[in-house]
Amino acid sequence: MSRKVRFVNYPRQYQMYKKEFDAVWEEIMSGGDFILRQHLEDFEKRIAEYVGTKYAIGVNTGTDALYLSAHALGFGPGDEVITVAHTFVATIGAIVQSGAVPALVDITDDFNIDVEQIEDVITSRTKGIIPMHLNGHACDMDKVMEIAEI
Ligand SMILES: Cc1ncc(COP(=O)(O)O)c(C=O)c1O
Repeated sequence: MSRKVRFVNYPRQYQMYKKEFDAVWEEIMSGGDFILRQHLEDFEKRIAEYVGTKYAIGVNTGTDALYLSAHALGFGPGDEVITVAHTFVATIGAIVQSGAVPALVDITDDFNIDVEQIEDVITSRTKGIIPMHLNGHACDMDKVMEIAEI
């Protein structure tokens, strides 16, 4: 017997948080506050607080977040950027679009970057690490930051 398992199950996630999503949707549609309004400001403040940074900026897509970050960090020709082999195409796209070259690291059991393999791909050209958090699981950021600060 075979069973189909969806790659991404948005309807399931929607059902899990339906009440919250519907309430916010109702509020936005009723108020007509679609772009750069209070919800975004609240989101940016809450994300900054949660991540522990002074600022956070909400943008239209994950792809643009990656693209803008790559440029803000100055990735460019001659640079190598370490990331994980199992990720969405936009991760690699942002690196390549900046002119840098991706250096791929394999995953571990939680499908996130295997932090033990990161140092193996560091070269004199390494400019950064993009440790993608996938499927709702956070990477081992303590280890990633430890390596990044060396
Ligand atoms: C890990 C990851 N990065 C980036 C993206 C791109 O996000 P967006 O579709 O908002 O551009 C996705 C989308 O699924 C993603 O899974």
